[in-house]
Amino acid sequence: MAKTVKEKETPADPAAERADEEKRLAELRRVIDRLDAEILRLFNERLEAARAVGEVKRRLGLPVRDTRREAEIFRRLAGLNRGSLLADRYLVQVFAALMAAAREVQSGSPHAADGFGTPSLFAVFGNPVVHSLSPVMHNAAFAATGFPGIYAAIRAADIRPTMAGVRALGFRGASITIPHKEAVLSCLDYIDPQARRIGAVNTVLNEAGVLKGYNTDGEGIVRALGERVEIAGKRVAVLGAGGAARAAAFGTRREGAAVTVYNRTRPKAEALAAALEVSFRPIEEFDPSDADILIHATPVGMSPNAGETPLCRDRLRPGLVVMDIVYTPLRTRLLAEAEAAGCVTVDGLSMFVYQGARQFELWTGIEAPLDIMRLAVETELAARG
Ligand code: ATR
Repeated sequence: MAKTVKEKETPADPAAERADEEKRLAELRRVIDRLDAEILRLFNERLEAARAVGEVKRRLGLPVRDTRREAEIFRRLAGLNRGSLLADRYLVQVFAALMAAAREVQSGSPHAADGFGTPSLFAVFGNPVVHSLSPVMHNAAFAATGFPGIYAAIRAADIRPTMAGVRALGFRGASITIPHKEAVLSCLDYIDPQARRIGAVNTVLNEAGVLKGYNTDGEGIVRALGERVEIAGKRVAVLGAGGAARAAAFGTRREGAAVTVYNRTRPKAEALAAALEVSFRPIEEFDPSDADILIHATPVGMSPNAGETPLCRDRLRPGLVVMDIVYTPLRTRLLAEAEAAGCVTVDGLSMFVYQGARQFELWTGIEAPLDIMRLAVETELAARG
């Protein structure tokens, strides 16, 4: 009733309403222009302070780059930003660019000083590859270090013409993922001895047209696992016999573990076991009392099949260390069940970040900004839900 009366008192005037909205738009744009000017002023004030810091550092004989301090800044900002409208991935980009500018101010010209040239191209090649977190992680690292790199995710059905493309287009580096990690070996000019032993390459470096293959998965797994548990002298069970499993078996064996590979299909696992001098058993025979550490290295449980698990929960026991190299989702069904069974769990995030950090260092020759890479991946995972 009241609504009807009100409508009668103030008849709609579309032209007047539009004029009001346009006025409001102009006001809001003035606010944005004022805020932009203020942000720009603050950016420059921050750079003035950075320049002064650079002078003090020079007098003290300290290096311009302080990755620990940079990581602290990002952590603090991510904390301050919690619950805000600004998504963390943009926060990382804005402040990474600001820090790159600050380094330039501090050292004169970091691109010249660090020997950086024109932008370099990088990509992850796989099939499927659309959900890869590598672009988010590496682009954050490029932004944070000021290295002029551009990293994309490119679906590659056939690896041979893809690597010819890498060569022809002058890509500086590539990440290789499912299902090409083994097939890529025959497309390269040089294979690092470790990668050859593992039988899988996840990293390609293009050095003046010479394609070199490396495997950083093993190092990623060992570093992530090693943060939580001593590997030497332990009995490690690796589930799977693909490229990731080979890297896990190789890496942990080299650390001094006694490794057994458990796989669904016998010939593949037998070949792996023979090449890496580890034991093999069918997956049905996995007995948790025979292992201290279990590393799951198959795609089972990876989204969109997050409801699946490679192992019945009755094969888990308290105290068993269970690492899942699947990181989408981060908390896989295997890890959730392992946690419920009293296992120590290690998710795939650290492994992913460590293997990526090593890739970054191979491509750029500069220390990887680990915390920023981790933050970029964490925030992207959170944004994806
Ligand atoms: P990647 O190189 O990334 O490790 P891969 O070479 O395709 O991938 O290897 C996948 C591994 O996961 C294989 O060991 C595969 O077992 P098979 O050798 O029996 O094929 C294992 N795998 C894949 N799907 C599986 C499933 N549903 N159950 C058990 N193992 C599975």
